[in-house]
Amino acid sequence: MQEQLKQLKNEAIEKINVTDSLDQLQEIQVEYIGRKGSITTVLRGMGKLSAEERPIVGQLANEVREAIQNELSTKKEHLEKIELDKKLAEETIDVTLPGRKVTVGHPHILTSVIEEIEDLFIGLGYEIKEGPEVETDYYNFEALNLPKGHPAREMQDSFYITNELLLRTHTSPVQARTMRALDNEPIRMICPGKVYRRDSDDATHSHQFTQIEGLYVDKNVRMSDLKGTLDVFAKKMFGEDREIRLRPSFFPFTEPSAEMDISCKTCGGKGCSVCKHSGWIEILGSGMIHPRVLEMAGYDPEVYSGFAFGMGPDRIAMLKYGIDDIRRFYANDVRFLKQFDEA
Ligand code: PHE
Repeated sequence: MQEQLKQLKNEAIEKINVTDSLDQLQEIQVEYIGRKGSITTVLRGMGKLSAEERPIVGQLANEVREAIQNELSTKKEHLEKIELDKKLAEETIDVTLPGRKVTVGHPHILTSVIEEIEDLFIGLGYEIKEGPEVETDYYNFEALNLPKGHPAREMQDSFYITNELLLRTHTSPVQARTMRALDNEPIRMICPGKVYRRDSDDATHSHQFTQIEGLYVDKNVRMSDLKGTLDVFAKKMFGEDREIRLRPSFFPFTEPSAEMDISCKTCGGKGCSVCKHSGWIEILGSGMIHPRVLEMAGYDPEVYSGFAFGMGPDRIAMLKYGIDDIRRFYANDVRFLKQFDEA
């Protein structure tokens, strides 16, 4: 029996020595020293031994088991190290390879222009407001003195969702919303956002474009306050040498109403193709808030007055950067957009 054990030990160690697979090591372990392994099988015959022999064989069996276990552990460590080294070698990173270029984006040119205008008005003490793009007929028209059937509605044909819901045609509903939310308090706000009209798209029209609304309400606000504000805006946006002029116009929600033009930079006011030979370029609509609009929003027109204006950042960006077609803003051609990285 002792011979058998020694032989098993040699056999196991021999197998351990020649293998180079961790799986095989596991198999050897099960085969020799596992619960149903060869050594256990041999020891089953212990009953036949004499009382003197038994402890000797028992001890030998333990030694054999331990020796095999040691060999297994040493070999296992060795094989694991080889495997790890191989893995490390395979996964070596070549730090000298050039990296993949990360392209960093930048704001869309319209966003930059809107932010520039926002900064300017924040400097004048205005707050930035927002309003919904899906608007009610009431705020888009009625609260602005454009009752149902009013002919001026036709100038702003819209995308209706229901009879009472539409995509807003201008940012002016935010005037009414802002006043409604307050109770005879002074207001200085601008509201940038997207607006929609059922225009057919061409170089100067898009069914979706942007506007910035301005609203100033307080006691004793006069037309000269409007003009002064717009003058500061025009000079900051287009250059100190720009002149502005207010031209009488009509909007149902302002009285009097005026359109603001700036002097043409290209020809210095003499007349050229950019300004259609007039020397002036139209920039925005404005006026003193109609008393009915104030009243409908809960403001007392005997005490409060104010002005409002609405401009199109698309048009402003086109003038400022010499862009010839409004559709370029929305076509997502990166070759176009990339030009305004520093804008
Ligand atoms: N809402 C007008 C438009 O879209 C512009 C405007 C705003 C005019 C505020 C006067 C006052 O044409």
